[in-house]
Amino acid sequence: MSLVKVKGTYDVLPEESPKWQALETYVKKVFKKFNYQEIRTPIMEYSNVFHREDENSDMVTKETYNFLDKSDRSLTLRPEGTAGVVRSYIENKIYASKDLAKLWYMGPNFRYERPQKGRYRQFSQFGVEVIGAMDPYLDAEVIALAYDIIKGLGLKGVSVKINSLGDKKSKENYMNVLKAFLEPKKDLLSEDSKARLDKNPLRILDSKDPQDKALLVDAPLPLDHLTDDAKLNFEKIKEALDLAEVKYSVDKRLVRGLDYYSYVVFEIQADIEGFGSQNALGGGGRYNELVESLGGPSKPGVGFAFGMERLLGALDLEGINLVPDNLLDVYFITFDEASRKEAFRLQNLLRSENFSVELNYTGKAFKGQLKEALNNKAKYLLILGESELAMGKINLKNTETEEQIQIDIKDITAILKEKLHHV
Ligand code: HAM
Repeated sequence: MSLVKVKGTYDVLPEESPKWQALETYVKKVFKKFNYQEIRTPIMEYSNVFHREDENSDMVTKETYNFLDKSDRSLTLRPEGTAGVVRSYIENKIYASKDLAKLWYMGPNFRYERPQKGRYRQFSQFGVEVIGAMDPYLDAEVIALAYDIIKGLGLKGVSVKINSLGDKKSKENYMNVLKAFLEPKKDLLSEDSKARLDKNPLRILDSKDPQDKALLVDAPLPLDHLTDDAKLNFEKIKEALDLAEVKYSVDKRLVRGLDYYSYVVFEIQADIEGFGSQNALGGGGRYNELVESLGGPSKPGVGFAFGMERLLGALDLEGINLVPDNLLDVYFITFDEASRKEAFRLQNLLRSENFSVELNYTGKAFKGQLKEALNNKAKYLLILGESELAMGKINLKNTETEEQIQIDIKDITAILKEKLHHV
C-alpha cells in the first residue's frame, strides 16, 4: 500500500520551508510596527461558531469540514480565522480590559473546495482583527497595514480594491433592489446564481459565469444605495487612505465571500502573468454585527486575511526572494579521522557561541563535502587537514568571495564573531 497526502493538501518540504519562515518573520515585523498583538485560537471549534443563522455563504454552508466527536459534539475545522477570534474575544471578555483589541493570527484553515492552482483544502492565512471601535481612520489603518505588507515585499502586479456595502439598512435596502432587478431574469441565471437569489444575492454580483455577467451589466450596485451616514463613512475612509499614501481603486462590484461584512470591504488582487484565476491574495472588511451575533456585546470589528500560498506564489512569479543567501554560518570540511575528531569538538564549541554549524556524517570525500556545504548555503567553510591540525591552524574560506585565510584554531570564535557580526 502506498500512502498519499489528502486531496487538496501539500507538504512543505525542507527546501521550501525557508520561504515560509522568511514570510512569517517579515509579516510579524509589520504587525509589530502597527502595534498588533498575537492571538492563537484552536483549529477546531464547536460548529455553531461558524454555522450561524446570519451566515449563508457557500463557504460556511457547503465547504466546512464538520464531524462529531466521540461524545457526539458537532465540531468544525475552522474555514477562516475571524469567527474563532471573535468567539475567543467574547469568551475571554477581552473587551473588559481593552477598549480596542488589535489582534493578529497565523495558521491553517480548512475548506472543502475543488482544489486548483492557488486553492487548497488546507491552506494558511495570516490576518488581523480589530475589535472595539468604529472609526474611518481605523478602517484606513487596517487597509494600510495590508498595503504595507505587499509594498514592503516589493510586489508590483498587485492592487488594492475597495468598496462599501453600507450599514445594515443600506444592505437590506440594496438587497431588495437587487432581488427586484434579478427576479424577472431568474430563468436566465446560472444554476449557482439562481440558488443564491434568496439567501445570498450579493454574491451573484461576483459571478464568473459569462451569461450572468452579461445580465449584470446594468445591475444596481451597493455604492449607489448607501445611506447618507454610510456614504460619509466611505468618503472619510478614502480620505484617510490618501493621507496614509495607500494606492487603491474603488471597485463598485467588489463583494466578499462571507456574509458578515458591512461598510467597507476590500481585496488585494494579483494581476501577474501566470498567476491563475484565484487572484485574491487577501481580503477583508468591517463586520459590525458579528460579535453580537456570536453572543457578545455590541462591538464593531474590522479585519483581513491573506492566503500565504498565494502570496508565496506571487513572490515566486515576480522573482522576489526573501530567503537570506546564507542559512548556515559554517561548514567543516575534513580529510582524515584526526581532523574530523577536532572538527567535531570545534563544532560543539561554536554552537555554544550560537553559530550555526554543520559537518559531514555520511562519509563523503572532499568534493561531496563541498557540495553539501553549498547546498546548506554555508557562509564559511572551515577546512581542516592533517598538516593544518599539526600546526594548530585551520583554513577559513568565504564561499561568496572565495577568499581564504589560515587562522589559529584558538582564535576561531573571535574571528568568526568579527566576520559574522555576532555579539
Ligand atoms: P477570505 O476572502 O475567505 O476571507 O480569505 C482570505 C484569503 O485566504 C483569500 O484572499 C485567499 O488568499 C486565501 N484563501 C481562501 N480560501 C483559500 C483556499 N481554499 N486555498 C488557498 N487560499 C485560500 C476570510 O477568510 C476572512 N476571514 C478575512 C477577514 C478577516 N475578514 C475580516 N477579518
